Amino acid sequence: MLMLNDVERGLIQDNWRIVRHAALMETATGLFYKELFDQHPEYRDQFPADMAGQIKKLAVTLDFAVAAMNWKRSEWRDGDVDLQQDLFAVLMAMGRRHALEYGVQADQYGPVGAALLHALDLGLGAEFTPAHRAAWTKLYGLIAQTMQLGAVSAPGTEPLASASREEVQG
Ligand code: HEM
Repeated sequence: MLMLNDVERGLIQDNWRIVRHAALMETATGLFYKELFDQHPEYRDQFPADMAGQIKKLAVTLDFAVAAMNWKRSEWRDGDVDLQQDLFAVLMAMGRRHALEYGVQADQYGPVGAALLHALDLGLGAEFTPAHRAAWTKLYGLIAQTMQLGAVSAPGTEPLASASREEVQG
């Protein structure tokens, strides 16, 4: 369902293998939130005072998204992937919660994506090449777009931000 080509998937998996297995996950997500709040201190109040749980949740979601890139078509056709594991459904619902429960606006997805790329860059160094960056930008864009699709079905939220991809790259 996610339209990444094999090369892009490989690049993301290369990076993710390092982040996962070097116990870098917590450091990387910690770096991510530090960068986000340095750049956007006004976002801090939307999050809980204690960020420990939050850091874990973000890592789990990214882990899920990276794993889902490998699902084969037949797993969907044969009904082996249930709704709890359906990335699309999970992200739509997550996007709705972000809009309704956490007050997240569409224009916040760009800065969050930029902070994610920054954390990967800091954490991975030479392993994070321009090609890796481009692949992650695409994956984040797909996740953000799916979450915002879920969000627009909720009343009282901003329409889809069509510019989110460009903001991430800039
Ligand atoms: C790819 C994009 C994102 C992913 C994968 C993601 C992931 C998550 C996850 C897994 C949670 C845990 C709660 C739940 O599942 O509902 C969460 C909560 C939250 N996220 Fe995100 N998020 C993303 C984008 C954003 C953006 C753009 C913002 C805006 C600053 C944001 C702000 C928050 C806030 C405020 C909470 C609730 C914290 C709390 O009160 O416990 N997220 N996010």
